[in-house]
Amino acid sequence: MILVTGGAGFIGANFVLDWLGESDEPIVNLDKLTYAGNLANLGQLKGDARHIFVHGDIGDRALVEKALATHRPRAIVNFAAESHVDRSIHGPAPFIETNVVGTFSLLEQTRSFYTALAPSEQASFRFVHVSTDEVYGSLGPDDRPFSEATAYAPNSPYAASKAAADHLARAYVHTYGLPVLTTNCSNNYGPRQFPEKLIPLMIHNALAGKALPVYGDGSNVRDWLYVGDHCAAIRTVLERGRPGETYNIGGKAERTNVDVVRTLCRILTELKPGRDYASQITFVRDRPGHDRRYAIDAGKITRELAWKPRESFESGLARTVRWYLENTTWLAGVTSGDYLKWTELNYPVEATS
Ligand code: NAD
Ligand code: TYD
Repeated sequence: MILVTGGAGFIGANFVLDWLGESDEPIVNLDKLTYAGNLANLGQLKGDARHIFVHGDIGDRALVEKALATHRPRAIVNFAAESHVDRSIHGPAPFIETNVVGTFSLLEQTRSFYTALAPSEQASFRFVHVSTDEVYGSLGPDDRPFSEATAYAPNSPYAASKAAADHLARAYVHTYGLPVLTTNCSNNYGPRQFPEKLIPLMIHNALAGKALPVYGDGSNVRDWLYVGDHCAAIRTVLERGRPGETYNIGGKAERTNVDVVRTLCRILTELKPGRDYASQITFVRDRPGHDRRYAIDAGKITRELAWKPRESFESGLARTVRWYLENTTWLAGVTSGDYLKWTELNYPVEATS
């Protein structure tokens, strides 16, 4: 069996569902259930003995030690993290706690588990550390996309905490020979994403008749990848990646934020007519230190492991909007409590146009 951390969050839950859709190999899911963790994401697995949920923190040494000793996974995929840049600006401490100290602790426990394995088990053991393209910093309009050789230059507390974790992962390969593989992926979107991130936030606000808050002038660029394609890439790295290597993953889909929001409005008009969604677009105060552009060169994973995305940005976005339209109960369930407090803090009434 394999163990994933953070499997009740957006990408982790999609990974767990895809994994069990593709194979019968059981999966242990260790998650702290922060505001971003939601077992409703995995509701369809109720009663499925192949999914074992462990409620806990990756930084809890005793709990992780016990989970490893009990389940003896052949691999670990580390999704657990605080993942939202704006939250890291308002309060960086949990990002350091989970992304840096938590990852360190998980690596330590994994090292101790790995050291005690038989040589044949060690040979096939893998630890996949899931990271982000944000560790590379910001690109100018004509710069080449990030490659695995691009120097780290993280700009937000989130990016810095993930960069620190990546460095620890690297050090555990070089110092202890732990078979870690690191993936650095661009912005994901798709079903089950918490509506604090650009795409689900815009879908949620559009349907609720609220403002669509575009930061600054909306010209910042991100590369977008459908979450199912990211999950397939991680499975590929787990199966065929070379231990110690890093792999950049991206969708070859660079878009300005305002383009993304306009495209979403067009799709919504087709699928749920009756409202002039684009008229809800509102330009608001920019994010402090807002990175201008991210772009990924995914040539290495394509060449070496034969992975490439299946969804185009337009097809993936249409699938995503359809999912949110069909899952209004899910959306209603997560748009309460902490989320409401967060939107009050992050979006004070301050439209600039
Ligand atoms: P998410 O915020 O939706 O989910 C994070 C999950 O981790 C939640 O279920 C949460 O409960 C859990 N968690 C948080 N702290 C924990 C802890 N201390 N112990 C155990 N569980 C904990 O995040 P996501 O968008 O699914 O991202 C997953 C991973 O992928 C993260 O490592 C993130 O940095 C990386 N990533 C995300 C994107 C993206 O666009 N979302 C892109 C590239 C990489
Ligand atoms: P986000 O989804 O938070 O991902 P990241 O910051 O990790 O790239 O934001 C994506 C882009 O959208 C980013 O340039 C910030 C911008 N953005 C807005 O313009 N308005 C919003 O309300 C949010 C959440 C993001």
